[in-house]
Amino acid sequence: MKVLVTGGAGFIGSNFIYHMLGNHPEDQIVCVDCLTYAGNLSTLADALKRPNFKFYKTNICDRAAIYDIFNAERPDVVVNFAAESHVDRSIEDPEIFLRTNVLGTQVMMDACRKYGIARYHQVSTDEVYGDLPLDRPDLFFTEETPIHTSSPYSASKASADLLVQAYHRTYGLPVTISRCSNNYGPYHFPEKLIPLMIINALHDQPLPVYGNGQNVRDWLYVEDHCKAIDLIIRKGKVGEVYNIGGHNEMKNIDIVKLICRHLRKPESLISYVADRKGHDMRYAIDPSKIHRELGWLPETKFADGIKKTIDWYLANEAWWSTIVSGEYKDYYEKMYRNR
Ligand code: NAD
Ligand code: TYD
Repeated sequence: MKVLVTGGAGFIGSNFIYHMLGNHPEDQIVCVDCLTYAGNLSTLADALKRPNFKFYKTNICDRAAIYDIFNAERPDVVVNFAAESHVDRSIEDPEIFLRTNVLGTQVMMDACRKYGIARYHQVSTDEVYGDLPLDRPDLFFTEETPIHTSSPYSASKASADLLVQAYHRTYGLPVTISRCSNNYGPYHFPEKLIPLMIINALHDQPLPVYGNGQNVRDWLYVEDHCKAIDLIIRKGKVGEVYNIGGHNEMKNIDIVKLICRHLRKPESLISYVADRKGHDMRYAIDPSKIHRELGWLPETKFADGIKKTIDWYLANEAWWSTIVSGEYKDYYEKMYRNR
């Protein structure tokens, strides 16, 4: 089958492309990515050598260009990863989040309607459910949890989800949606918690923990997320939402301390800084539906995944040093100076 992957030059999309090329050599993969600050073509260098991989530098909001790609490629399945993905940036400037995450999703689905596809899969996030209180560890997000967003980022992702469901109901578009918890692993952009802390610690720079560091995230190794999406596009039921998560809740402060220990850096590098506006307290996924219906279970334990991730950043300095020495420097200054 031919799978069109948007946002494939970013963190999860690139891992998904390598998962597909490695596990389904009979499939053809077409990647569409406009290479924003978060997209990096060097990440796809190995994929670009493969005869069954093709790359288009195109914005998913560009309707004419997207229609041309569909006309030329006629994909069977579309997996939409392309998005603005960083909550802090969405707080600074929401507009691009609405454009890409909502209107871009609309363009992709219109192309699917026009040219016909077997499946449109929307990669969504647990952040659409809002957050859970710290004093109720018995509560988890299920697929029935009401949408209740906190940030412009999560509101844009929730809007896209609603639109995807509307296209299914109104036009019969064969859709699925997955809502995954926080991912970590190779090619994670340095602005996000885990890579930021690894890279700062390696440079003996302060480790900026927002608020009191007690916020909880439910971390999943990226390869496990990719395997789940692969299962959903092949075996998932049209019209359904699937939550993805591995019951691995960790407080931010404990993650940062763990990174210090792995890198043999002192915890005195930790610096508590002003909290994020509207900061969600706790995310926690109930993944029983995807386990029950599709047999998915996470395979990488956090202790192994975080070690693999740190080792990857140690071995791939060339990848991230190019990023952190470029426009990222200005972003970091703006976000963290005087915080
Ligand atoms: P990322 O920011 O690392 O990558 C996003 C990619 O999309 C980049 O390559 C970028 O160039 C591309 N892109 C952005 N706007 C585009 C546009 N208008 N047209 C074409 N390409 C565009 O993001 P990520 O962390 O890999 O997240 C991928 C998807 O997974 C997103 O939809 C995100 O909401 C979702 N998600 C992420 C996480 C997580 O922990 N990172 C968890 C759950 C869901
Ligand atoms: P992040 O990686 O931005 O993912 P998300 O906000 O989508 O969960 O942040 C993960 C957690 O880490 C979140 O609670 C905010 C916190 N955080 C810090 O404490 N310091 C930082 O510098 C960053 C980037 C995040």
